[in-house]
Amino acid sequence: MEIKFWLNGKLIKDDVEPDTVLLEYVRSKGCMSVKRGCETANCGLCTVWVDNKPVLSCATLAVQVNNKKVTTLEGVQDRARDFGTFLAKEGAEQCGYCSPGFIMNVLAMEDELENPTEREIKEYLAGNLCRCTGYQGQLRAIKKYLARNKEA
Ligand code: FES
Ligand code: FES
Repeated sequence: MEIKFWLNGKLIKDDVEPDTVLLEYVRSKGCMSVKRGCETANCGLCTVWVDNKPVLSCATLAVQVNNKKVTTLEGVQDRARDFGTFLAKEGAEQCGYCSPGFIMNVLAMEDELENPTEREIKEYLAGNLCRCTGYQGQLRAIKKYLARNKEA
């Protein structure tokens, strides 16, 4: 099927199979930040944005992004690097495999929620699993990052 969409701002026109999964497709286009985890919509590792909203690319078909805007970590590198320094300072960056999907959700939350409470943060990020950090460092990093941005 013919599709046309924007990947990190670049217009792409392509012919894709109807069953091509978005996770594989964006990786084939060079967006290797998008990680393969459970592939059953349970871990959040494969999160990308479609029209600025987080979606699980393992549970999305490439044809579903026709005429839409897809953003991966490669498309928000400056913000990701900035938040990444907060993660590192809190010791919440260990193997890093979950980080791209996690960061995509944190940045989407920042864009969507104004002054989120701890409970709202936890709820927003409940779909992001991490085998390494125990989550407390991630939470501290998010709170400090949001507080810094609020002051700015
Ligand atoms: S790989 Fe998509 S949610 Fe786990
Ligand atoms: S840092 Fe290793 S899975 Fe999250």
